[in-house]
Amino acid sequence: VSLKPYNTFGLEATASYFVEVSTVDELKNVLQNPAFREEEKLFLGGGSNLLLTKNYEGLVVKIALKGKEKIFEDENHVLIQAGAGEIWHQFVMFCVENHYAGIENLSLIPGTVGAAPMQNIGAYGVEIKDIFHELQALNLETLEVETFTLADCQFGYRESVFKHTLKGKYVIVSVTFRLNKVPTFKTAYGDIQKTLAEMNVTELSIKAISDAVIAIRKSKLPDPVEIGNSGSFFKNPEIPLTQYKNLIESFPTLPSYPINETTVKVPAGWLIEQAGWKGFRDGQIGVHARQALVLVNYGGGNGNEIKKLAEKVQQTVLDKFGIKLNPEVNYI
Ligand code: EPU
Repeated sequence: VSLKPYNTFGLEATASYFVEVSTVDELKNVLQNPAFREEEKLFLGGGSNLLLTKNYEGLVVKIALKGKEKIFEDENHVLIQAGAGEIWHQFVMFCVENHYAGIENLSLIPGTVGAAPMQNIGAYGVEIKDIFHELQALNLETLEVETFTLADCQFGYRESVFKHTLKGKYVIVSVTFRLNKVPTFKTAYGDIQKTLAEMNVTELSIKAISDAVIAIRKSKLPDPVEIGNSGSFFKNPEIPLTQYKNLIESFPTLPSYPINETTVKVPAGWLIEQAGWKGFRDGQIGVHARQALVLVNYGGGNGNEIKKLAEKVQQTVLDKFGIKLNPEVNYI
């Protein structure tokens, strides 16, 4: 089975077996099927954070559990439970249309609802943990559905317990979000205010912020339908304040965001651009011309070439700045 339609990099790779599941029972049936018991398994959402470097010798399970349900409401909040297979952006649009606030800054992120908590997706000053209530996940050993609270998930910057101690042990089947009926607008990040002004927005609204975020993303990030990519390829590195102070002696324009008294985060996109990679192209792969943090497949490129390019980028950034970049995407 070709995995090309199932990864936003648009990479050619195959899986030995492929199934799509729409309910928890279907998922359990697949896991209990003796034919697949010994197979390695890869659970797939939107395939938007994935670098396929070779064919997958095992079973790929596409999580297609759908549904959106209001499970609680009071004066200030609603709890909405969404199936893991819901398309993230469609879910955000559903919230925007219903005036449920808190998620609008996360508009137009590729992928699915179920994949979002895995790496605590974030953009424009909001992370999923800010609107997270709880999630349900199938324990792959017991085949019981368990509930995870905010604390259980151990969210960090692009991190959760599901990437660490519980890696490979659970499949997220639904996520419940706690959204606000009274919005608190977050417009501090980057170009949001500038974009709102350009759009002649005089009165802030959930919709206006969502529109602004969509406009910014469209201006910088390639649409995976046109150019294969996985969004940010690397995480923004966190470095010691002492190292940062040394670096700005030589690179006074290095942007930074304080994390705490001893750590600052610096944008990987800036480092990669300064290392000369922005707009680089080698055959069918390259570094996006408008956002250096995004590696791209123009069509027909292969995952190994992208992996090699990523290694070169890492090496030059290490040589120039003494900073190690870690991939955000998962290598398969
Ligand atoms: N920058 C450059 N050159 C570039 C790219 C960025 O100098 O080629 C500089 C920008 O000028 C700016 C800074 O880097 O000063 C930050 O850039 P930007 O606002 O575009 O965001 P980012 O740090 O590159 C992160 C997330 C994105 C998210 C944006 C907006 C990570 C790894 N990436 O990117 O998330 O959309 O902020 O919040 O944290 C993703 O995870 O896939 C993703 C797209």
